[in-house]
Amino acid sequence: MTRAEILRWLREEDPATLDVLWARADAVRRERVGDAVHLRGLVEISNHCVRRCAYCGISLGRPDLVRYRMSADEIAACADRAAELGYGTVVLQSGEDPGITREWVSDLVRRVKANGRLAVTLSLGERPEPDLAAWRDAGADRYLLRFETSDAALYERIHPPLAGRPPGRFAILERLAALGYEVGSGVMIGIPGQTYESLAADVALFAGMDLDMIGVGPFIPHPASPLGRGEFPQAPAGEQVPSTELMTCKVVALARLVCPEANIPATTALATVNPQDGREHGLARGANVLMPNLTPARYRALYEIHPGKACLREGAAEPGAGGRGRIERMGRTPGSGPGSRRRRPRGTPSSSSGP
Ligand code: 5AD
Repeated sequence: MTRAEILRWLREEDPATLDVLWARADAVRRERVGDAVHLRGLVEISNHCVRRCAYCGISLGRPDLVRYRMSADEIAACADRAAELGYGTVVLQSGEDPGITREWVSDLVRRVKANGRLAVTLSLGERPEPDLAAWRDAGADRYLLRFETSDAALYERIHPPLAGRPPGRFAILERLAALGYEVGSGVMIGIPGQTYESLAADVALFAGMDLDMIGVGPFIPHPASPLGRGEFPQAPAGEQVPSTELMTCKVVALARLVCPEANIPATTALATVNPQDGREHGLARGANVLMPNLTPARYRALYEIHPGKACLREGAAEPGAGGRGRIERMGRTPGSGPGSRRRRPRGTPSSSSGP
């Protein structure tokens, strides 16, 4: 799919025409990754962060926020719970926290992998290569690091650099792939200043990077962040991408068309802007993954990267995202096994053809 075609879809408003996009994304999803909805148990292991990302509720710019680090025992208990619930993967996520060291994470990964049932996904921010290599050696399977936007000027505006560290998410994503991780990335949709053109470039990049996982969600203003306080300009009228459920669904559908075998979640942010059926819409328009939150309740409220997170309203006993009934009512099946990326057989095209 060309960038011009992607752009046309992003600008499309007619519901009947958009039904064509939804149907195509759903058909490609069914054909290429099947009806399984893979469940990944998300554990938010630390809300310490050294970065000042202008949108985020756990950035260093929140001196008022109570900070926590879960113990290895607490995290291992959450991983056991993921396995008991039949999930194939546990996702360990945190702010960028140098207080969780290379060795500590390596030991943790080895411990979680020792039960033999779970794939481990890490989402611990921009870490030095020796950390990433050690964790891969310890058995980590996947790594998530969104590039947020491919518009370099916008990226730099909302990500104040860390002294002595050049911005380098794309370089890190390349290193992750070279280390043998399954690599996930993605963007926020509707960042103030984000244009349709730049979002179309983001989607084209998903294909160019051959991502294994693609996570996208609407930007949700956090009142305690500079972006949430409206301190950053919008793009000119007609150019600014709206941070809506509809726009997010368009990007989910387009991501499925340009990366047919990728694992694509219906994200918490999508469920936050439409608590009723945001997840169902995502799953019906290209997504094949849910990430139920397994963080203990006492920590969950402190990991408010954006306000109103859907999982705060949902209990841990029947994690809202992971309700099997919900999956089956959609005619889909809860995934079994780790739900790794399926690679296409040789000789087949890497993306679906035609607009
Ligand atoms: N609104 C929506 N998404 C957010 N993220 C962080 N803050 C917000 C927000 N205010 C997303 C970023 C990050 C991921 C973990 O959460 O894309 O990569």
